[in-house]
Amino acid sequence: MADDRPILFFDSGVGGLSVLAPTRALLPSAPLVYAADSAGFPYGTRSEDEIAARVPALLGRLAERYRPRLIVIACNTASTIALAHVRAALDVPIVGTVPAIKPAAAVSQSRVIGVLGTRATVRQPYVDDLTARFAADCTVLRHGSADLVELAEAKLRGAAPDPARFRAVLDGLFEQPGGERIDVIVNACTHFPLVATELAAAAPHPVTFVDGGPGIARRIAHLTQEMDWPAQASPGIAVFTATPDPALAPALAGYGLTRLETL
Ligand code: DGL
Repeated sequence: MADDRPILFFDSGVGGLSVLAPTRALLPSAPLVYAADSAGFPYGTRSEDEIAARVPALLGRLAERYRPRLIVIACNTASTIALAHVRAALDVPIVGTVPAIKPAAAVSQSRVIGVLGTRATVRQPYVDDLTARFAADCTVLRHGSADLVELAEAKLRGAAPDPARFRAVLDGLFEQPGGERIDVIVNACTHFPLVATELAAAAPHPVTFVDGGPGIARRIAHLTQEMDWPAQASPGIAVFTATPDPALAPALAGYGLTRLETL
């Protein structure tokens, strides 16, 4: 019998779609469940304690309902704060999303890297550790933005993005001392690759943007390589912790998520 257990992606909102998309490209017949904690959104302005309590509890309920073969915490904020708590609480393999500082350091010529995340992510000791391990010879400038998360959510609901708001976000990096030398920006929030085009257009000079999505997709493919998949793709499920917003349905359908549910 074919193994139809899904891969479950989890984020506060639509950001995790930037991790789901490259995974779906590598594993086209994998059953997918995309879970958004819309009732708890946004995470970036919450405290560590709130996130560390909320995320394992929700993932426990989701694991019970969908019986996933693997859970992907497709959220930098939740991963940098709650990954260890989730691993301790659940008996399912868990893949997290952490700021892509290592690949950024591998390509930076100027050795000045920008890290764009939520306010909660950029203050995490996890980011200090990654910087010390992989970018010790770089100047790493950080900026936390809640507005960029909102801009990505609005884009997926079909709103036309305002270029001035993207410029204002990037000013938070480029206007720091040494910021004019940034040549690589880490999109350390899964929402931000969803507005990659708008960000690139708003940058004062050409910059390379990197994020964890493609690397996580390869990791998922590796971890599941011995497993069976159904012969054909099935309709993906998007599950929300608050009533799903119908304005998101067309964008979700573009990711193969055509069944909308509430937890
Ligand atoms: N997508 C999330 C991240 O990667 C968080 C966005 C939010 O809820 O503030 O950090």
